[in-house]
Amino acid sequence: MQDKINEILKSSEDQLQEIEDAKQLQELRVQFLGKKGRFTEVLRSMGNVAPEERPLIGKLVNEAREKIQKAIEFHENRLSQIEKEIRLKIERVDVSVPGKKPEVGAVHPLSVTTQQLEDIFIAMGYSIAEGPEVELDEYNFELLNVPKDHTSRDAQDSFYINENVLLRPHTSPVQARTMLSQKPPIKIVCPGRVYRVDEVDATHSPVFHQLEGLVIDKGIHMGHLKGTLDEFVKKLYGENARTKLRPSFFPFTEPSAEVDVSCYVCDGKDDNCKVCKGTGWVEIMGCGMVNPKVLDGCGIDSTVYSGFAFGMGLDRITVSKYNISDLRTLFENDLRFLSQFLGG
Ligand code: PHE
Repeated sequence: MQDKINEILKSSEDQLQEIEDAKQLQELRVQFLGKKGRFTEVLRSMGNVAPEERPLIGKLVNEAREKIQKAIEFHENRLSQIEKEIRLKIERVDVSVPGKKPEVGAVHPLSVTTQQLEDIFIAMGYSIAEGPEVELDEYNFELLNVPKDHTSRDAQDSFYINENVLLRPHTSPVQARTMLSQKPPIKIVCPGRVYRVDEVDATHSPVFHQLEGLVIDKGIHMGHLKGTLDEFVKKLYGENARTKLRPSFFPFTEPSAEVDVSCYVCDGKDDNCKVCKGTGWVEIMGCGMVNPKVLDGCGIDSTVYSGFAFGMGLDRITVSKYNISDLRTLFENDLRFLSQFLGG
């Protein structure tokens, strides 16, 4: 009997040396100490043992079990120590590794210009208005007094979706929409995307951007328009900037004018200036007093109210501001180009 106990003990010690993980250890615990374990067998055969020897055998069994229990605990600790070391190795954080620089986005140069112009006009008391890019002929031409045979109505100039619907070729329909939905005084600017049939090259794009302005109130006259434009160019190009109006024609304004700004690069001092071509002036927008026909057509009594409107190209302003030689770069969204403007 004693031999049997020693043999079990020995076999448990041998097996424990081979144990590699907690699962194996648990199996071993069941095998030696479990209810159906190997000592239980020994105890069952106690019947064959002489009664006076029984206490001794019982004692030996208990001692052996305790020994095994201790050995298991020892290995348990050993395994969990190993496990911990492995985990520490895997989860090790090298605080000296240089960090990954996050890619920081930037505001697109066109958006920078748009926001800058919006801010200038908001500071002058204007609100921002917007309209759809897919527009009805009615708002785009009819209400703006554009005659049926006007060239801009031609399919060679504007993108038509059907007879009455087109991609707006200017932001002026927002004027009509605003007049129809608001009562004077009106003081708005509307920035937005516009479309015209055009070949793509360094200075032309079938998609571009405008900012339209409209002011309507009692007693508004050309002096208000000129004063507004002067103030605007000073804020955009600096205190020395001046404007010059040249007579022009738009169906929706009467009188109409093209606005030139004194050259913001050479101020007329460089005969070879690339921006003003030595003239000292750069054309920046169209403007005029809102045609009374347009006011009346949009439900505003032209005998009581008058107003002025202006419209400028945001893309041209942007390329000249950043000295960008090719308009296409504004639309290609090549990050190598755009990232030059990081920080706006
Ligand atoms: N709509 C004109 C254009 O696209 C610009 C403009 C706007 C002119 C408002 C006068 C008044 O060229």
